[in-house]
Amino acid sequence: MDKQAIIQAEADYVLHTYNRPEIVFTHGEGMYLFDSDGNKYLDFTSGIAVTALGHSDPDWSAAVAQQATQLTHISNLFHSAPQVQLAQKLVQNSFADKVFFCNSGAEANEAALKFARKVGKTHHDSKTKIIAFTGGFHGRTMGSLSATYKAQYREPFAPLVPGFTFLPFNDLPAAQAAIDDDTCAVIVEPIQGEGGVNPATAEFLQGLRTACNAHHALLIFDEVQCGLGRTGTLWGHQQFGVMPDIMTLAKPLAGGLPIGATLVTQKVAEVIQPGDHGSTFAGGPLVCAAANVVFDKINQPDFLQTVQENGAYLKHRLQTLELEEIVAVRGQGLLVGVALNQPAAPIMAAARDQGVLILTAGDNVLRLAPALIVNKGEIDTAVSTIAACLEKKP
Ligand SMILES: Cc1ncc(COP(=O)(O)O)c(C=O)c1O
Repeated sequence: MDKQAIIQAEADYVLHTYNRPEIVFTHGEGMYLFDSDGNKYLDFTSGIAVTALGHSDPDWSAAVAQQATQLTHISNLFHSAPQVQLAQKLVQNSFADKVFFCNSGAEANEAALKFARKVGKTHHDSKTKIIAFTGGFHGRTMGSLSATYKAQYREPFAPLVPGFTFLPFNDLPAAQAAIDDDTCAVIVEPIQGEGGVNPATAEFLQGLRTACNAHHALLIFDEVQCGLGRTGTLWGHQQFGVMPDIMTLAKPLAGGLPIGATLVTQKVAEVIQPGDHGSTFAGGPLVCAAANVVFDKINQPDFLQTVQENGAYLKHRLQTLELEEIVAVRGQGLLVGVALNQPAAPIMAAARDQGVLILTAGDNVLRLAPALIVNKGEIDTAVSTIAACLEKKP
């Protein structure tokens, strides 16, 4: 199919839930994507913080190809080695005691919310209240959407799941006042991604931990975007020194194949029984073989150290541009937001025309989430392209 035929077929047959630029990508290698017109793009989106090892990492590709010839799908009615190997790695390198596998970030949060409701009911029947925060994004399924703040995403689909309350992000007194004995869970992104790359403060997360402990509520960290090396530590919450009871993962875990994981402590695990939750595809041999490669590569001190250094370099380069259009540079590691004094979408489009792919996060924030293998030369290219686009005032 040629480019115009693909674009036309998309308009004809694919439900219009995304506005896409007129580019058809054909392949990717490392930090670069290539389109059907032969153009090369430096990719600072990594498929929205997914392809952490870059495109077509040779070890990842080999593991997927090998597993595809061996065993792809058996359902969760049977055992397979890749799933338990991945579960063991996740547990042995985190606060958690058990893992539930699913297929996406929304599903990982859906599981977390269901588990929290069931644990709450072991205390008393009305312990069902779930607290979420302004700016939070947790997914598009009915449960995860009920914890997602943006009215535009929620309101067309109301009524959503009852029992959710939104509180101002980083406002500890408001949270302390609201968390009570009827609260079963508090769900929060340690660094909000879609909401504008807003890090929580350590005091806020510590205060949530204390309030949750006092009222036997579960603290859920949604690390779908900020987890697994993106911040320069294996888990985002290590930046803050606060541990959750449940952590959700997805995006980068299988390096580009669909996966989600809900990590839980023993006190949660004890309440969940066979039949309580499940998924046909989840934790299959193919995605887990891919995820084992991703996890092993990221979970190396040198790799994480390089993410920290390159993240600091990226922030420093942006901060020292001294452009009046840049209001703030925030984030951690290789999840960086550039708050502008103007809409971000035209700058994203202008950078794309210059061969650099970046994201937005809300109306006025550019979001940079390159693969974790990015180097300083590629950071220089992205930063100078963004600066040129801002100075040109497109
Ligand atoms: C923090 C966070 N949670 C959940 C999700 C939903 O993940 P998915 O799109 O895989 O359902 C996202 C997606 O952007 C996210 O950033």
